[in-house]
Amino acid sequence: LVFVVLLVVFGVGRCLAQSGGGLSRSSFPKGFVFGTASSSYQYEGAAEEDGKGRTVWDVFAHTFGRVIDFSNADVAVDQYHRFDEDILLMKDMGMDAYRFSIAWSRIFPSNKSYSLNHTFEDCTDGTGEVNQAGIDHYNELIDALLANGIEPYVTLYHWDLPEALEDRYNGWIDPRIIQDYAEYAETCFKAFGDRVKHWMTFNEPHTFAIQGYDVGLQAPGRCSAFLRLLCRAGNSATEPYIVAHHVLLSHATVSDIYRRKYKQKQQGSLGIAFDVMWYEPMTNSSEDIDATQRAQDFQFGWFMDPLFFGDYPSSMRKRVGNRLPSFTTAEAALVKGSLDFVGVNHYTTYYAKHNSTNIIGILLNDTLADSGAMTLRMDDFNNPFISIKKALMDDKRIRYHNDYLSNLSAAIREDGCNVQGYFAWSLLDNWEWAAGYTSRFGLYFVDYKDNLKRYPKKSVTWFKNLLKSA
Ligand code: NOJ
Repeated sequence: LVFVVLLVVFGVGRCLAQSGGGLSRSSFPKGFVFGTASSSYQYEGAAEEDGKGRTVWDVFAHTFGRVIDFSNADVAVDQYHRFDEDILLMKDMGMDAYRFSIAWSRIFPSNKSYSLNHTFEDCTDGTGEVNQAGIDHYNELIDALLANGIEPYVTLYHWDLPEALEDRYNGWIDPRIIQDYAEYAETCFKAFGDRVKHWMTFNEPHTFAIQGYDVGLQAPGRCSAFLRLLCRAGNSATEPYIVAHHVLLSHATVSDIYRRKYKQKQQGSLGIAFDVMWYEPMTNSSEDIDATQRAQDFQFGWFMDPLFFGDYPSSMRKRVGNRLPSFTTAEAALVKGSLDFVGVNHYTTYYAKHNSTNIIGILLNDTLADSGAMTLRMDDFNNPFISIKKALMDDKRIRYHNDYLSNLSAAIREDGCNVQGYFAWSLLDNWEWAAGYTSRFGLYFVDYKDNLKRYPKKSVTWFKNLLKSA
């Protein structure tokens, strides 16, 4: 039923061999897909163009002190206007696919909701009437990709909720979101499904449940820690679990719609992309081994268990108790098996140790793990004003991709892992959420000071050689 698309990779896996060298297309099965990944808010810009509505991220980024460099993504890397140019960059590298997300608020805008005098009784902002200009934009993008031989992989939700839905009923906290999300998703299937064959309903729900509703460091910035003065008032003890529950029900509802009404005709598949760490026990003690399993349960298992078995992991039930919502029998049946593939956004590996001071009962330590790509991130992070010349020499990124792909190839060939593709985050440097423009994840350098010009880093040549090889 399920195959894995390794979507975004910038952490080093747990058992990376030395740079293997000798990687080529033939190291991977026929049809293995290579691509790069992006998201609407991090890339598009054009924040107020063609009828786009405000999103929770527009509001969050414009709130003083929420983003480390006081930036926002009003312009970002302007892909809204430059996608033709960017597609040529992908094509030139020999990429097979491009993963991007659709901005819900371009399809169902929500501008009115921002006026302070607005009341919501009869408001349909964020739902209701479709904004044709938004549909037109994604049609143009999809057509341009296909015309250049690049397969679109579309994420329906990469964190940019229409602010109207946050204002009206607190977005993901309220069950009304399920219907509104389903309406939005079905609109996309109708408009784009003749050409889009790979859908991801969500990107990293674990991240936005925790960052957005527990610690409040990402939109909508809710939390209950009273020392965090900038949080919107929330309840960290319950909200992340409610959010995740509604995400699972939204995903399952949309999957059901897709399977009943579109899948056969459109011949596509539908999955989710999760943020997945790997955990190893700090010691061989049974306590640490249990802690390692719990770390996995509270992240990947939180979503995967319901999707595979119809319920949350028992360790979560035990520790979270009644604050963890329950599925009815009908809901469990809807959720179970509701995906065709799993996207794995893999960052890094941690050692886990038993510790009783937090809900999961773990202490994490990554200093012993070879978290090379996180180091790579930190290098750029610590030095956002890195010179172009230096930034282009990204040997660490090359080493990372090379090591990761060598092991991935071995996992497929030797262990029979069913992995169908690899999407590097990211094609271009872009706006990294609360880290603003201080992190540079791109294969291409973007010069923020000079008209957003794109420059190939050394890793572009490396990918080009790999992808053009036999
Ligand atoms: C994957 C997330 O999906 C993306 O939005 C983020 O920018 C990268 N990780 C880097 O943190």
